[in-house]
Amino acid sequence: MTNERRVRVGIVGLGHNGLAHLRAHLGLGLSEVVALCDRNPAVLEKAGREFGIRRLYRDDAIYADPAVEAISIHTGDADHVEPFLKAIQAGRHILVEKPLANSEEDVCRMVTAAQAAPAGLQIQVGYILRFNPVFVEIRRLAASGALGQIYYMEGDYIHNLLYQARQTDPLTGRNWYLENEIPLVGGASHPLDLLRWISGKEVRRVMGISNHVAFPAMTHDDCQVCLFEFEDGTIAKVAALYAPRCAVPPYNNLRIYGTKGTIERDTAACAGTPDEVHPPFQPVAAERTKGHPYEAEIVDWLEAIVQDKRPRTPLWDGANSTLATLAAVRAIRERRAVEVPIFRDPAAARPPARGQ
Ligand SMILES: NC(=O)c1ccc[n+]([C@@H]2O[C@H](COP(=O)([O-])OP(=O)(O)OC[C@H]3O[C@@H](n4cnc5c(N)ncnc54)[C@H](O)[C@@H]3O)[C@@H](O)[C@H]2O)c1
Repeated sequence: MTNERRVRVGIVGLGHNGLAHLRAHLGLGLSEVVALCDRNPAVLEKAGREFGIRRLYRDDAIYADPAVEAISIHTGDADHVEPFLKAIQAGRHILVEKPLANSEEDVCRMVTAAQAAPAGLQIQVGYILRFNPVFVEIRRLAASGALGQIYYMEGDYIHNLLYQARQTDPLTGRNWYLENEIPLVGGASHPLDLLRWISGKEVRRVMGISNHVAFPAMTHDDCQVCLFEFEDGTIAKVAALYAPRCAVPPYNNLRIYGTKGTIERDTAACAGTPDEVHPPFQPVAAERTKGHPYEAEIVDWLEAIVQDKRPRTPLWDGANSTLATLAAVRAIRERRAVEVPIFRDPAAARPPARGQ
């Protein structure tokens, strides 16, 4: 990134994820983190001291601070909505963690508020797997036609999160994870987002089932599985397991089946001729990285702000990934297939400029 200017950022929510973003901002040196906000004073003061940041807020005053032009939101899943609406109202650029919200109503409130905001606010939703070089390359392969017509996909979020039962909020004495976390939404909206992004297709219907065996302390079922039907008839199976007795499976168990090629995790088998039935799987040509690529996601957001261009996961797009998994939860609850509400790309709906 050629950084014409350093965007002045405020970070809201200083738990594990907010601090990871703060460190990534400081490490990159492309922005200026001018303010921090957490409702927990001990957490706030500790971060302020450790990182030498003086503008510290426990409340809404951060949104009105004229020194802050962009807000990065890292509160718990059900608590993104209020900071988001306040940041929009204050006219700030936003990076908001996934899932966008924990209810379909809240997602719609967020998108409606953003639609009414002045043009030029850049909003990125934190679907960070879009920045993993392996998934970037798989998307390129799909777009190049090497997989042919995609008709079936799979992706999982299989992650032992039993330790979350011990993460009680010292301020409130509550544990948002046990109370509010919905595995299909908080976890499996990641692989569903990947499948939407790689295939370029939108979901239209979903059905699902779940059980509550392995992680009884959670309010929501800890094993949730659903089948998505995309607008062109493509099918995808997505599962979320929060207490498996195994390590996280690599590359979200990604599987993509097309008429010419197949993806299995970070490998691709592409037929060279129409007669080649069993092309061998080869590793996709991309760098293998460890951990979450926070830096790449942040650079993309800062570039969007400075260069006035759309970020990789604009609001309507991230909203669709969250909404589809929230619809899946409704399908499980109502024991029937449900239609998935979809936001369309506003840029695609815009009439072509004169002369195009
Ligand atoms: N993109 C990813 O890969 C990824 C990875 C981890 C977590 N996350 C997401 O990041 C978010 C935060 O996760 P976490 O594990 O850091 O949570 P956490 O509970 O550790 O931290 C949340 C912090 O937000 C503060 N907070 C809550 N409401 C607030 C408010 N209204 N104003 C100011 N501060 C407030 C809390 O005091 C706490 O310090 C979640 O939505 C989670 O799903 C995303």
